[in-house]
Amino acid sequence: MTWNTASFWSTYDWKARGEEWSESWGGSEAQWFGSLFPRLHRFLPANRILEIAPGFGRWTHYLLPTCRELLGIDVSSDCVAACRERFRAARHASFSQNDGLSLTDAKDGSFDLVFSFDSLVHADIDVMASYVPQILQKLTDQGVAFVHHSNLLQFNGSIGTPHGRAPSVSARKIADLVKRNRGKILVQEMINWGGEDMHDCLTLFARDSHKAGQGRLIKNNRFMDEAFIIRDFQSVYSGSGLLDVVADGNDVAVSSGKGESDK
Ligand SMILES: C[S@@+](CC[C@H](N)C(=O)[O-])C[C@H]1O[C@@H](n2cnc3c(N)ncnc32)[C@H](O)[C@@H]1O
Repeated sequence: MTWNTASFWSTYDWKARGEEWSESWGGSEAQWFGSLFPRLHRFLPANRILEIAPGFGRWTHYLLPTCRELLGIDVSSDCVAACRERFRAARHASFSQNDGLSLTDAKDGSFDLVFSFDSLVHADIDVMASYVPQILQKLTDQGVAFVHHSNLLQFNGSIGTPHGRAPSVSARKIADLVKRNRGKILVQEMINWGGEDMHDCLTLFARDSHKAGQGRLIKNNRFMDEAFIIRDFQSVYSGSGLLDVVADGNDVAVSSGKGESDK
């Protein structure tokens, strides 16, 4: 799948740093505070965050003020270089390039949150089968992983490959991978993306030892309705107008997170 290769992302036109993908939410700031933060707030601030596939740092910008340390790992050297430049003033941030399969630069048992959004949706099952056990290894005892991935396999080829979603991955396959590797599912939220079909999934998982109770499976075919409400009624309160990108080197969002004093 070309969308999952370093060369595809190296030739991508990153001039808006991925802000263009937040259009349906009215910008990344509105999307973070209206859609992602409500799903993550129980786990933030975090001591250490591992972000898989940060791209040009669309979410890193919001994660950085909420942690003491952040490591971003991306398959593309251009993305790694761009994040290093964009967040050069954040001394608690580091970025490294990988082979698209391994997380060896991340220390085992040390991350309170592993985060990946709008990246691994293109990753086929071989990539997910490599990442899931490693993610579980990288987590602390009570750490959690929030991973956005494909659920296209559930449609058995009946809807083509919308938005470059990986056809070999489903919510169930990811749940099986988590369970087989001594992990537990906290939440799986199947979501629609762009259209009506729930070909995406947000999986929140942890090690078996995590104190959370019974996992929940949610079928949310109104994820885009949520996006449009955020765009139409919340984004007016956000400072990041669409494609209104600042190019300074001290690019870290303002919040009351504990990482703020580190800068
Ligand atoms: C659509 S961009 C999204 C970037 C960022 N998550 C965002 O939402 O703005 C996809 C990113 O995933 C990276 N990527 C794709 N496959 C990867 C893999 N197997 N491992 C690490 N990074 C990967 C690409 O290099 C690119 O930076």
